[in-house]
Amino acid sequence: MSAPTPSVVELRDVRLRFDEKEVLEGVSLEIEPLERVVIMGQSGSGKSTILRLILGILPPTGGSIFFKQFEISRLTRRKLQQVRSQIGMVYQYSALLSSRNVRDNVALPLEELTTKSREEIDKIVDAKLEMVGMLGAKHDMPSELSGGMRKRVSLARALVMEPELILFDEPSAGLDPVISSVIDELIISLTETSKVTSIIVTHEMDSAFRIGTKMAMLYQGKIIESGPPEQLKQSENPVVAQFLSGSTEGPILEGTQDAIATK
Ligand SMILES: Nc1ncnc2c1ncn2[C@@H]1O[C@H](COP(=O)(O)OP(=O)(O)O)[C@@H](O)[C@H]1O
Ligand SMILES: [Mg+2]
Repeated sequence: MSAPTPSVVELRDVRLRFDEKEVLEGVSLEIEPLERVVIMGQSGSGKSTILRLILGILPPTGGSIFFKQFEISRLTRRKLQQVRSQIGMVYQYSALLSSRNVRDNVALPLEELTTKSREEIDKIVDAKLEMVGMLGAKHDMPSELSGGMRKRVSLARALVMEPELILFDEPSAGLDPVISSVIDELIISLTETSKVTSIIVTHEMDSAFRIGTKMAMLYQGKIIESGPPEQLKQSENPVVAQFLSGSTEGPILEGTQDAIATK
């Protein structure tokens, strides 16, 4: 049951099938402490699915997923809840509750998962909002914020439980290039100051190379190459090379895995 390595996350030959469709066909990947691992892949390749597997929202059809010494799919409900509180999640479009103001959105995990007093919660919320530069917007409603500001708030929310791991699903989706660079820089500085390990899934190469200390390329259900950014840049794998250059020439065909995904 226990992983022999000190990895924060380990995927071992993970398989996932939805009805007729085999999305992951044996994904293996290790994430060491303090790394920022970028998982790149086409839209519909299974990136968000990997994050849901790590969170234990989806059970794998095969293989195993470890968060530290815990095998996610073998935990009791109660233990899974506990383990999940050590993992922060930043959703693709921030996923703030529209009926709650910024303070209340960020306070939510603390209110639901801890017995901290209102005073203690306020202190933590203020500190995290300050870290992301949003303290001044504490009383604003999500609808009053820009996409970049909403992303900052969702970063603060992911930090309030002092997680050991943060998962980012397409952090620059829907943001203009300048704001997305700013958010990338913020992700780097926050993960460094908070000493947190992170997994970032994206299909945007500029962002991937800015953020990642390690990269992994997901293609047709497998991690076809992983390593430091410099290694992937020089990859001789034609799929990796084509994906990185965004070229229309190469083995990646439009519609192979994309056709099903309408996102
Ligand atoms: N709950 C589900 N039921 C059936 N198919 C799904 C479900 N979730 C995702 N898929 C399919 O799995 C594939 C991978 O999805 P996803 O992980 O969201 O891709 P990505 O995040 O890389 O764009 C897609 O083809 C998608 O349509
Ligand atoms: Mg996705």
